Amino acid sequence: MRLRDIMPTINKEELNRTLEELERSLRHLAAVGIEGFNCSAQSLKKIQQWGRPMDRTAHRLAKIRADLGDCRRCKLSASRKNIVFGEGNPSARLVFVGEGPGFEEDQSGKPFVGAAGRLLTRIIEAIKLTRDQVYICNIIKCRPPGNRNPQPDEIQACFPFLKRQLEAIQPDFICALGKFASQTLLGSEQAISKLRGRFHDYHGIKVLPTYHPAYLLRNPDRKRDVWEDMKMLMQEYGYEK
Ligand code: URA
Ligand code: URA
Repeated sequence: MRLRDIMPTINKEELNRTLEELERSLRHLAAVGIEGFNCSAQSLKKIQQWGRPMDRTAHRLAKIRADLGDCRRCKLSASRKNIVFGEGNPSARLVFVGEGPGFEEDQSGKPFVGAAGRLLTRIIEAIKLTRDQVYICNIIKCRPPGNRNPQPDEIQACFPFLKRQLEAIQPDFICALGKFASQTLLGSEQAISKLRGRFHDYHGIKVLPTYHPAYLLRNPDRKRDVWEDMKMLMQEYGYEK
């Protein structure tokens, strides 16, 4: 997939023009012997890489995945089949954060691919985006046995890696799916029914908590609330473009 296919909202041509100009200027300064600028080969190489912010983020995400390794930091490692790291656009402006992998996610290593995942895909499409344009991940990366709730020590062991992923991606928005994602990201103990419906802040990123799609499958009446939340999200997402 090419950069322009998955980074539709960044004016890449303008960025590349600026970077080309800057590189040309620095080469010129180096050629005429003007000192005081860093015109080393290393610096010029670095400038070339500025033109590929997605590559840089992808590289940072790959490093975080490598640091996670064959993780044994919590007891979920004993029963998991696959670590579910997260997937999507490294330059996403919107990240969905769920709770943790279920059976199908554990089997495949991909987030939100089961029944709840299919509903999430429809929610993403309802706000005129695709799964490829956003990034999708979870508070914990390994499946709790029998899909039980994540425990505090498991969240504590895993959350630092999600923090690093969010730092690398630097999205404008996080949609926190359900109680665990919302409470963990916001450091709150408030009920999801109280947290949802408005934006909160996570290190300068706008966080919108909403009900978890698995909860919606059991409580379809609540889809109306999620749709209200998604309309808010869509509006802000559009404004900030
Ligand atoms: N539920 C979640 O919270 N995350 C997934 O990836 C799948 C189901
Ligand atoms: N409880 C949860 O964990 N998530 C929801 O979305 C609703 C209730």
